[in-house]
Amino acid sequence: MKMEKTGQAEIHINDQTLVCPVYEGTEGEKAVDVSRLRKETGLITYDPGFGNTGSCASDITFIDGEKGILRYRGYDVADLAARCEFIEVAYLLVHGSLPTLAQRENYATLLNSHSMIHEDMREFFSNYPEHSHPMAILSAMAVSLSSFYPELRGDLKEDVDMTVARLISKLRTIAAFSYKKSIGEPAVYPRHDLKYCENFLNMMFSSPVRGEPINPVMADALNKLLIIHADHEQNCSTSVVRAVGSSGINLYASIAAGICALWGPKHGGANQHVIEMLEDIRREGGDVDKVLERAKNPRSPFRLIGFGHRVYKSYDPRAKIAKELCKKVIAATHTKDPLMDIAQELEEKALADSYFQERNLYPNVDFYTGLTYREMGIPTNMFTVMFAIGRLPGWIAQWLEMQNDSDARIARPRQIYTGPNLRKVAPIAKRK
Ligand code: ACO
Repeated sequence: MKMEKTGQAEIHINDQTLVCPVYEGTEGEKAVDVSRLRKETGLITYDPGFGNTGSCASDITFIDGEKGILRYRGYDVADLAARCEFIEVAYLLVHGSLPTLAQRENYATLLNSHSMIHEDMREFFSNYPEHSHPMAILSAMAVSLSSFYPELRGDLKEDVDMTVARLISKLRTIAAFSYKKSIGEPAVYPRHDLKYCENFLNMMFSSPVRGEPINPVMADALNKLLIIHADHEQNCSTSVVRAVGSSGINLYASIAAGICALWGPKHGGANQHVIEMLEDIRREGGDVDKVLERAKNPRSPFRLIGFGHRVYKSYDPRAKIAKELCKKVIAATHTKDPLMDIAQELEEKALADSYFQERNLYPNVDFYTGLTYREMGIPTNMFTVMFAIGRLPGWIAQWLEMQNDSDARIARPRQIYTGPNLRKVAPIAKRK
């Protein structure tokens, strides 16, 4: 983590001056180090949602939200999506460099050798009620892995590789099993002769009695979708993975917490909610203008789902890739999805509207990914699970980086207390 001290800033509080170092990262991002602020002045910073707070220094992902740039370990996400397999990107995030051909083959073999889950874990699926959300199952299963497989101890390379491979391979199997459970079909086991994405599609769409041919367009789309989701620096779920991991708990538990954070409709859950919003629009006659008015109304809590981002103040580079993928998949399936027409009209009108322009609100990654998954035959309640499979290598890389960061401390923000001052407990009979 190369963060250089390039200057200093002064904070004046009444007659006290605190001189703070200014650090700069490799892409010129600057930060004022306020770590001595409370100790020396008694004050804390107030930054709800941490929009101005750098919680760590990281070598993994660079985002320039103003210019719409996203890079993993220095590689542009569009370049990676065009040229790599998802497992190469997973390797890149976790190991820091792209694999050679031999390393990729070894990695694929390692992932395949860890793709099964313990048979006792398979029993868990049968005890979930029908219509359980697959994200609930996924998070519970992720933490359960810690009971079946050893925790990562020390930093032996082989142990790290094995634990990471276990998670990346098994979570995909769990995801497919949870879908099969939700439709009342028996699980389809992973196959060693299939690549990562093909294997997932096979587990989803084949049955123990009938193999389903894998459409290469779908496998390629899945590969690219997983890549564009693979990391996004200190977003809500990644911060959760780091925060939970900072308490010293194992990787499985930290990932399970990240899955829960991702589930929220303001975060990864938005891909499911985009489709629900588009379906509502279609059911109500396709009036896009009405929906835009609702989203702009300051008295309505409704937001245009799939629009806006804390970091991107221009077009989300992942949304551009997802939109093109969506068109390709639609062309391959020869379908005409009315929701795609509504989505495009919504995007066009929103981008031309001063409300969205003034607030720099553009389509985010979730706007077109849901539509693409839908075209691929993946059910709506599985969309956020797909996001989780893609984000997993990023969470793991961030967690491992934190373990090796000598500056890392247990995550423990402060607060400004605004409740009652000290009061006495009255005897229960006298309480009003
Ligand atoms: N529709 C309408 N107005 C919006 C939207 C939207 N989707 N997003 C932001 N705004 C408005 C806000 O109301 C606010 O307006 P104001 O200044 O008049 O009060 C202004 O734009 C700034 O918004 P913030 O809430 O400050 O933005 P923040 O960075 O806190 O939130 C978020 C980002 C949560 C993504 C938000 O844009 C949103 O709710 N979008 C819809 C949900 C969504 O698509 N989430 C997926 C995000 S991508 C991901 O997590 C993978």
